[in-house]
Amino acid sequence: MRVTATVNGVRHQADDVWPGESLLFVLRERMGLPGSKNACEQGECGSCTIYLDGIPVCACLVAAGQAQGRDIVTVEGLAGSDGSLHPVQQAFIEAGAVQCGFCTPGLLVAAHDLLARDPDPADADVREALAGNLCRCTGYEKILDAVRLAAARLRGSGVAVPAAPSPAAPSPTEASLAAPSPAEAGEA
Ligand code: FES
Ligand code: FES
Repeated sequence: MRVTATVNGVRHQADDVWPGESLLFVLRERMGLPGSKNACEQGECGSCTIYLDGIPVCACLVAAGQAQGRDIVTVEGLAGSDGSLHPVQQAFIEAGAVQCGFCTPGLLVAAHDLLARDPDPADADVREALAGNLCRCTGYEKILDAVRLAAARLRGSGVAVPAAPSPAAPSPTEASLAAPSPAEAGEA
């Protein structure tokens, strides 16, 4: 089948798509957008988080056929049209929240979504919002620092975070950031 969707504001088309293959595969392998990462392909890690019609979802759990005619924003779409990094992206770099970087695209989308809904989140709200995004490198503290930094800068600049989805948007998965297992929190 042919899949046509708007991705990061641009109309994209992919041909000869098996309807059951994942949207993550279509984005990475057919549309040339490798930013979203494939770490588990089971909806467990959040590394493939994208916006689908304004709602964060795990792209590995979306069938390609379901993406037909939809509006998609990937991590590549967070940056400005001039290539400038979004404040959330910049904050992750400056706070040291990027190590191997495999979790980073999903975390950026999830953090972007949080700050669109809540420009001044409490730490508990940040942990809850990012609970579906697993990181095996950082121990999470630098990620929390990055979100705090991005939130402060966005509030200070008066820049609203675009692409705000519904406040009722669900987390990509139900795993808990608040209580990562030792393996999730400490091992590279
Ligand atoms: S690759 Fe999609 S949730 Fe892990
Ligand atoms: S930086 Fe998070 S998994 Fe490596």
